[in-house]
Amino acid sequence: MDSARENAVLTMVPKGLFIGGEWRDSSSNTTFGVEDPATQQKLTEIADGTPVDAMAALDACERAQSDWAATPPRDRGEILRRTFELMNANADDLALLMTLEMGKPLAESKGEVTYAAEFLRWFAEEAVRIDGRWSVNPNGSGRLLTMKQPVGPCLLITPWNFPIAMGTRKIGPAIAAGCTMVVKPAQQTPLSMLMLAQLLHEAGLPDGVLNVVTSTKASAVTGPLFDDARLRKVSFTGSTPIGQKLMEQASKHLLRVSMELGGNAPYLVFGDADLEAAVDQALIAKMRNMGESCVAANRFHVHESVAEEFSSRLAERMGEMKVGRGTEDGVQVGPLIDDTQRGIVADLVEDAVGKGAKVLTGGERVGDRGYFYAPTVLSGIADDASLLREEIFGPVAPVKTFSSDDEAVAAANNSDYGLVAYVFTSDIKRAIRVTEGLEVGMVGLNRGLVSNPAAEFGGVKESGFGREGGREGIEEYLYTKYVAVDV
Ligand code: SIN
Repeated sequence: MDSARENAVLTMVPKGLFIGGEWRDSSSNTTFGVEDPATQQKLTEIADGTPVDAMAALDACERAQSDWAATPPRDRGEILRRTFELMNANADDLALLMTLEMGKPLAESKGEVTYAAEFLRWFAEEAVRIDGRWSVNPNGSGRLLTMKQPVGPCLLITPWNFPIAMGTRKIGPAIAAGCTMVVKPAQQTPLSMLMLAQLLHEAGLPDGVLNVVTSTKASAVTGPLFDDARLRKVSFTGSTPIGQKLMEQASKHLLRVSMELGGNAPYLVFGDADLEAAVDQALIAKMRNMGESCVAANRFHVHESVAEEFSSRLAERMGEMKVGRGTEDGVQVGPLIDDTQRGIVADLVEDAVGKGAKVLTGGERVGDRGYFYAPTVLSGIADDASLLREEIFGPVAPVKTFSSDDEAVAAANNSDYGLVAYVFTSDIKRAIRVTEGLEVGMVGLNRGLVSNPAAEFGGVKESGFGREGGREGIEEYLYTKYVAVDV
């Protein structure tokens, strides 16, 4: 990749805070550096927002809220639709920017731009389908009218692993529903969100509806917002411990809350599964985003009759994957986001190996620059290995065996998390029985990818609650008002 092209894209990104429709410096006049995880070099500097800036963003929301809620749904939808088109027209630049700040291979970044834009198209279509109910009081003496209204100003906190898609999945329904918002993107990957804000502005989004505050001091910046009763909702994608803290803060003014938290996805392969498909799909479920996804397959539970073959085929395919900077041709595995994340992955592998696991491929850091870790397959996992309980968030596939359906379901459910599970079998009755027994919000049945803007994404247990995308996604941004009508 030509570095002039990289510089050109970096130059296009606004570097300020986006508040009330204007780009401005931080109130403290400070900036912070954004790093390329493949080279450990600074890409650029952007504004480091403060609590004062966050409050200015909430003030902007308040000024815009009532006009925005009264804007015809078709007009709100058209802005989303135009942004969808602008995102596609600028897909190459957005993808390159995402690869530079996050590390994923360019092809995956392009895939994310398409995925992210589709949330805007989906919610452009949902904006005009917000409806209510009209019914006769059971005793016949009056009428019951039920209407849906926007919840009001929202705080949307987005993660670094999918820098745009996790934004549009919240911004799309908030705009469609008539809410205003303060967006706080992850410190590691703010550039994609700043570009998106620019496109939304270009598409005609009124000033103050969307405000973006980038910052290195997440809790200091968001804290005062929770203390202010004008904020009505928080939607967060990130780790379970941070989600729990935000829940506590949200209790002060009893905010509406959507939490898309950690995962520990089991990938179940039964003896009757199509093994080739199970291995192909495992590569997607495990290696999409270098495993840095809350829906990444975290542990493979494979029937003892096919476990050896499955593990060796998976190890062969993962061992062949090209690791490198995501901008380079043919690279399939980029760096992890930072040294902390790579350290967590390395420690989990070390713990499993120390407890008897065998390394079939990988098991080590790669290179001396950038946060690379080799695609890794482990077999012979001990029951007390930490990676069976903890979210790996890296390119590591531990394979464990089972001998009965009940054992497989019990192992799958043996987790505090309940986001997604993957099931591979060619027996429809088993598929239904197992799927019904799983304590998760989503199941991939003979598929390694569940993410889809037209489907409800979300979990149970410590993976959180609320649904993003699909028919339910917009409901998170609406409240129900019932009117008793005297007739
Ligand atoms: C996530 O990792 O938070 C979500 C990934 C997805 O939407 O597929």
